[in-house]
Amino acid sequence: MAERTSTKKKKARKTQASLNSSRVKSPKSPLLAKNAINGAPPNSGARSAPTGKHFLSDKVGHFTESVIREMTRQAMLYGAVNLAQGFPDFPAPAEIKQAAQRAVAADVNQYAITWGAKDLRNAIARQMGVWQGITVDPEKEITVCCGSTEAMISTLLAVCNTGDEVVIFEPFYENYGPDSVLSGAKPKFVKLRPPKEDGGEWTFDEKELRHAFDKHTKAIILNTPNNPTGKVFTRRELELIRDLCVEFDVLAITDEIYEHILYDGTEHISMVSLEGMRERTVTINGMSKTYSVTGWRVGWAVAPERITNAIRKVHDFLTVGAPAPLQDAGAMALSLPAEYYANLAKGYRVRRDHLMPALAAAGFQCFRPRGAYYVMTNISAFGYEDDVAFAKYLVQEIGVACVPGSSFYRDPRDGAKQVRFAFCKKPETLDEAARRLAKLRVAPAR
Ligand SMILES: Cc1ncc(COP(=O)(O)O)c(C=O)c1O
Repeated sequence: MAERTSTKKKKARKTQASLNSSRVKSPKSPLLAKNAINGAPPNSGARSAPTGKHFLSDKVGHFTESVIREMTRQAMLYGAVNLAQGFPDFPAPAEIKQAAQRAVAADVNQYAITWGAKDLRNAIARQMGVWQGITVDPEKEITVCCGSTEAMISTLLAVCNTGDEVVIFEPFYENYGPDSVLSGAKPKFVKLRPPKEDGGEWTFDEKELRHAFDKHTKAIILNTPNNPTGKVFTRRELELIRDLCVEFDVLAITDEIYEHILYDGTEHISMVSLEGMRERTVTINGMSKTYSVTGWRVGWAVAPERITNAIRKVHDFLTVGAPAPLQDAGAMALSLPAEYYANLAKGYRVRRDHLMPALAAAGFQCFRPRGAYYVMTNISAFGYEDDVAFAKYLVQEIGVACVPGSSFYRDPRDGAKQVRFAFCKKPETLDEAARRLAKLRVAPAR
């Protein structure tokens, strides 16, 4: 027993050290030093090895491991309610699970076609027609990947050359910066500013966005509905981005993984549906969030034929293919009736409206999301030095895991007063989180 306790303590120290190392010693964003982002040689300790090869790629010196995924490990270590990583703790729809079981029982055990099982590609093309009004050729314009995560990196590897620039809104979903670096491109960040008043929208400065575009710009990554802000880009904003893409001959790579999770009557508009964008958009999506199966690893990229050919080549040599039986289940999932999607959005609205009052009562200022399943909050009321110190206190002492805001920004100072909570959880999980959060005390006014 004593040995088990001491192993647990050692493990706790080790995990704590890893959070510290990614959050404190090095800059706090998953992207490392700014000079690394700017393409200067990385500051790798391995370079000072006295003799021989240092074995590591320079690229990996440019970013740290995911803070989001690290917070899940912290939650497990401290027995905290995990409102950090965005995965549901409730079951996936029974009919989808049964479709997967049937596929395994029918011996769908071998590699699917590299760019995706035909039935799934047909279903994706059909639904792009229904949801976006876009005609897609399933034989030539779709690549099924291991999650939208692989679809994004395969796309960037397929389109970027060293020295190309990729425009990214910040706060950003953690993967985009490292994805750009791995593909040899330099990320250029444009700020989304939090709403000034309750219930307001995150906005960007048009001049700042234009300034980010130049002759080196290869692509813009656009995530709508957005993680972590919950922003859903409006038609006007999309048209503005479209005009810049056309003017500067830039590709739009859109991450639309939360397309069906929308609130307050907000409409999701796909960039590819805008006039002039069909030939310069890669639309990325997947099963993870829409069907509550983040562990299945099925996603896809829809792009014009020439770009698809390049994405397929990269994808083939990265992973060969996504899990075959789960692609069969994917084809079935995409055939669910419209009612399924309406209920999905309704269920998440109920969860959002469950967590937000509890956060507000505990002292957080919440930025009301219009889509996706996260709420960004301001933590100024608690008087902590920064978001990392606060997140550590929350996971260790209060028993709730969140994601420190700085992990969504290039400059950690921009997120030092923010943390993100995920509400893709059962009511009892949210109740337990609320019970624990009620122990928080705001700092006395100075
Ligand atoms: C914006 C965004 N894109 C992509 C992903 C990962 O998607 P997948 O599971 O399809 O790889 C996530 C997961 O949280 C996400 O928030």
